[in-house]
Amino acid sequence: MSQSLEQLETPALLLDEAQMDRNIARMREQVRRLGVSFRPHVKTHKCIEVARRMMETPEGPITVSTLKEAEYFAQQGVKDILYAVCISPNKLDHVAALQDRGVRMQIILDSVEAARFVAEHASRTDRHFDVLIEVDSDGHRSGVAPDSPDLIAIAQALQRAGLPVRGVMTHAGSSYECRSPEEIRAMAEQERAAIVQAAERIRAAGMACPVVSLGSTPTALFASHLEGVTELRAGVFVFFDLFMAGLGVCRIDEIALSVLATVIGHQKDKGWTILDAGWMAMSRDRGTARQPVDQGYGVVCDLGGTPLQDFILVDANQEHGVMARRPGAAGEPLHLPVGTQVRILPNHACSTAAQYGHYDVTGPGHEVKDRWQRVSGW
Ligand SMILES: Cc1ncc(COP(=O)(O)O)c(C=O)c1O
Repeated sequence: MSQSLEQLETPALLLDEAQMDRNIARMREQVRRLGVSFRPHVKTHKCIEVARRMMETPEGPITVSTLKEAEYFAQQGVKDILYAVCISPNKLDHVAALQDRGVRMQIILDSVEAARFVAEHASRTDRHFDVLIEVDSDGHRSGVAPDSPDLIAIAQALQRAGLPVRGVMTHAGSSYECRSPEEIRAMAEQERAAIVQAAERIRAAGMACPVVSLGSTPTALFASHLEGVTELRAGVFVFFDLFMAGLGVCRIDEIALSVLATVIGHQKDKGWTILDAGWMAMSRDRGTARQPVDQGYGVVCDLGGTPLQDFILVDANQEHGVMARRPGAAGEPLHLPVGTQVRILPNHACSTAAQYGHYDVTGPGHEVKDRWQRVSGW
C-alpha cells in the first residue's frame, strides 16, 4: 500500500514511522544504561505493530491499562502482561480466562480489602494470581505509602492466603507537573527511593519481593540510576507529544503523531482559518494549558511537519477546529486556500490516538505506506 497524504480523507491520524523508531531507540538505550528490564506500557498506541518494536521478545513483557488491551495483545501472541490498574472483583474472571489461555497475568492492588477478595477468588476457583502491590511514590493517585503499615499488612494477607506477593510497582505521575530538568531528576529519584524502600520493608518482614517496578516517560528519561529496581515501564515516549515537549522531555520535531486536517473555510476579519479537525479529532485534552506555553488544541504544521509560525488550534468544536495565531503573537496574515492540508501536533498522544480506529503510517517522503489498526474500549 502506498498513498499520498492528499489522497487521505481527513481528519486522519498520521504516524511517522521513522520518528517513532528513533523514540523507541532512545528509550531502549536508556533502559540498557540503567540496567533494568523493560516492560513498555502499550496504552498510548494499543497497536501490535507498534508493540512489536518495543517489546524485548514477541511474547512481551508489556503493561496494559485495560483488560481489552490484554485480550487484544494476548490474541497477538503476547504472554507476559501486567494489568496496571488496581483490580476489582468483577474483573477476576476475565483475568482467569486470560491465564487459562496461557498468559502470565500480573494484577495490582493497594488494600487489604482487595487482597482478601483476590485470595477468596483464588481459593474458590483453585488458582493462583500473581499480585504486585501498588505503592504511592508521589501522592499522585492510588497506591499505599512506602512507609505505611498497610504495605506489610497487604503482603501478609496475600502470604497467608498462599499468594506470596510477587513485587511492588509505582508510577510517579507527578513528574508531569515538574517545571525543570532538576525537578524531573529529583522526582525520578523520589520514585526510585520509594519503591526500593517498599521492597526492602517487605523483605525485612520476612517475605520475598522479586519484582520492583517503576516508570513514567519523564522519570525514565531523567533517572541517573535505578539501583534496587528490576523493571521499568514507560509508554508515551513512543510518540511523544506537546505536553512532553513543554516539559523539556523531547523536542517538538520528535513528535511522531499528528492529525492530518483540511482547511474548510475562513473568518478573515478574525484571523481564523477553519479546519475539519475539532475536539473529536484532537480530543478534549488541554494539558498544555497548565504549562508555560499553552498550545491550545494543538500546533499547526505544514505537510512536512514544520510548525506554521505561531499558528495553533485556538478553539475547537466537535468537528471544527479554529486555527489562528497564538494569543499575543504578531505576524503577516497567512492565507491557506480551502482544501489545503495541514498537520496538527497533539497535546496528549494517548487521548488523541484514542479518537481513532487506525494509524496511517507515513514513510520518508510523507507517503502513507501502511495502515495499522488499534484497539479501544474496555
Ligand atoms: C501504571 C503506569 N505505568 C506506566 C505508565 C507510563 O507512563 P508514561 O506514559 O509517562 O510513559 C503509566 C502511564 O500513565 C501508568 O499509569
